[in-house]
Order: sequence, then C-alpha cells, then structure tokens
Amino acid sequence: MSDLKTSIIEKNNALLCPEKIKIFNAIGIDLVIGKRQGPYIYDVDGKKLIDLHLNGGTFNLGHCPEPILEALNQAIQMGLDIGNHHFPSAQRGLLAEKLVALTPGDMKAVVFASGGSEAVDVAIKSARHATNRRKIISIDQGFHGRTGLSGSVGNTKNAQFFLSDTPQFSVTVPFNDLEKMETALKAKDAAAVILETIPATMGFPMPEQNYLSCVKTLCEKYGALYIADEIQTGLGRSGKLWAIEHYGVAPDILVTAKGLSGGIYPMAAALLNQRAGEWLHQDGFAHISTFGGSEIGCYIARKVLDIVSDPALLQRVDTISAYLLTRLKALQTTHPFLLEIRQNGFISGLKFDGEMAGIEMSKALYDNGIWAMFSGYDLSVIQFKPYMYTDKRLVDKIIDIMEKAMNQCRAGSTT
Ligand SMILES: Cc1ncc(COP(=O)(O)O)c(C=O)c1O
Repeated sequence: MSDLKTSIIEKNNALLCPEKIKIFNAIGIDLVIGKRQGPYIYDVDGKKLIDLHLNGGTFNLGHCPEPILEALNQAIQMGLDIGNHHFPSAQRGLLAEKLVALTPGDMKAVVFASGGSEAVDVAIKSARHATNRRKIISIDQGFHGRTGLSGSVGNTKNAQFFLSDTPQFSVTVPFNDLEKMETALKAKDAAAVILETIPATMGFPMPEQNYLSCVKTLCEKYGALYIADEIQTGLGRSGKLWAIEHYGVAPDILVTAKGLSGGIYPMAAALLNQRAGEWLHQDGFAHISTFGGSEIGCYIARKVLDIVSDPALLQRVDTISAYLLTRLKALQTTHPFLLEIRQNGFISGLKFDGEMAGIEMSKALYDNGIWAMFSGYDLSVIQFKPYMYTDKRLVDKIIDIMEKAMNQCRAGSTT
C-alpha cells in the first residue's frame, strides 16, 4: 500500500469512519477512490474497477459525465451560486416546472432539499400536515434515510440506535403483503404509506404486479397518502423515468435525489400533489433549507432530466438490460450458486446460495475488477446496477468477471 493511501486511511480512521473501515477491512476491501471516469473508479493505488454500485444511482450517468461538467461550467459562467431560498428564483422555478411536467400524479408543488433523507422528511411532514395524522406505514426492510424522520420509518434498527424510534407512529409490514397493509391502514390513523418502488437495501425484490397499485387503492380507501421513494429507482434506470410508471401508480408525493445531482452537485426534491402541498399556502417558512434547491444544482439537475428522459436513452436501457438478463440467465444455468436474478432495467439484485454469499461475491468481484455492494438488509444479495450508457461490450466484460468471481466463491466454499 502506498504512503498516500496509508495516510488517507489513517486520517479517516481517526476522524471520520473507524467502524466502516474496520468492517470493509474484515471483508478484504480497502478501496480509496482516486481517479474516476465513466463506468470506472480507480483506487488511489491504481486498481481499476467497474462501478456497479454507483452510490445507489448517484452515478447513473457515470462518473464525471461530460455534459454535466459542461452544465456546471455554464452555471458558473452565468454567475450562479447557491442562491437565497427566501426569494423567488429563475433556476428553481425552471427545475420545478420540469419535474412536475415529467412526473405522474398531478403534482402541484416542489420542495427542494440537499439530500434524499431531507426530501423524505419533507414528504412525511407534508403527509402529516395534510391528514392531521401522525402514523407512517412502511415495510420491514425499507430504507428511506438517516435523518430523524426518514430514519424513523422502515427498518427499525436505524432509529433505535439513536433512541429516535417512535414505535407508536411508525408501523412496518412485510413487503408484498396486502393483507397486513390493509390491517395497518384500517384504523384510519395513518398519514401515509412510504414505499421504495423496488426496495434497494432489501436487495431489490420485485413488487408483485398488482401490489403497488393495490396499496394506492387502499391508501385512498383509508385516507392516507402514498409516498413513492424513487431515490434509487428513478431517473431512467428502469427504462422509464420513474419506476413507479411500470406499476400504474400515481403517487401523492414522489421523492427523488441521488442521480438528480448528475453525480456532481447535490440536489433532491419532494414533489407534492394539491393536498400534500397545501401547507405551502399556509406557512412558507414551515420547511427551510439553505442548500436545498441551490441554483447551480438546479441548472445541473435540469440537464440531468433532459438526458434521462430522452426516449432514445430509455430505449437503450431496455435493449441493453434485456441483453444483460439473457447473459445472466445463461450464466445461471452453469452456476446454480446464482440463485435468483431480480431485474427491472438496470435495477438488479442478484441472490446467491448462502446467507453471507452477497458479501463473498462483493469481495470476489472486487478482486477481479468490479465494485458491487452487498445489500445491507440481505447479505445473500448484491446490488447490481450498471450505469445507463452500458453497452454490450461492457456487459460481456461484466459477465466474464462474474463468472470468475462465482468460480472463486464456489472453490472457497468447498475447500
Ligand atoms: C431509497 C432511499 N431513500 C432515501 C435515501 C437517503 O438519501 P440520502 O443518503 O441522500 O440522504 C437513500 C440513500 O441511500 C435511499 O437509498
């Protein structure tokens, strides 16, 4: 290991994330990202990796995408900066207009945030204000962020760790279980159901075809709002701009973040329909975010939306992800270690045979030139998320590495 890498790790170990470093070290992964370009990241000591983690879709368009860097330069040339959230802004208006135009659900308002968790907080606050109810229903293995409110829904461990859990107001039910969902909603005291369209941290299990639309119908029946968390699944990865479009749901609130940044400048938003956005007419200061809707970020996010809503790119996602699926299925016939392929466009989770097999595969892939992260709530799964410009050659390269990694894991488990 170079002196440079050692000193970076030491500094981070002392001041930032000792436990994280320990965990990745135990697995045998000591990545410190240096150069980055397109689908590739490079360790500071030179190791080249195909990035199939993409930081949850932050790098949908790859690392340092040329059009986004150009947009950043243009924004700077135009004299933009963070802006002042107290006053009307041309850039915020233009981005809000575009987001509303591209989103199902008759959205009438946009609240910008500096990250996904904050945007989820806005969604929860909006639903509570609109319904005058406190309870939020989510799924057992859901993940919606780490701030006070966003961390209080989904998997309960997050909130318990910081003693910020509120079990009386946060109810979880199993994914794809409509009966339990209806039982939770029946008391008519829920402000909202919040669902990732395809739950990432659970390992991307696919919603049964009618599940999400039935949940929406139940929400309407019992007076709760439907919050679609599209932070990982949105922005074109599924071959449609929002994954929720595959399931015929018009949400009351939609939350987006990560990829909206182009991987360059933070940006997140909660889109609200008439009912959810009513509070904006009552108290304009009820949610304040200095960095939310920064003007440089708005300019970049508009460019991102232009790119990811382009029908030609969405078609390409369909075509290449279908090719990827064919290649993965072929691999599965010779490697039953690959138990399950979960896929919708470039959103995929691969489940392997063994409780910790996702971790083993993350390490084996890392050794062979791919960074793909295991799922936090199901360690038998890896999140497998190629960037949107993936071509057949890159798929072939990925499949070659997959095969090597699986052979390595199999050899490891039989010796
Ligand atoms: C589905 C989902 N929702 C919310 C969040 C929180 O976003 P952020 O990390 O930008 O606060 C994440 C982050 O990983 C996520 O995956």
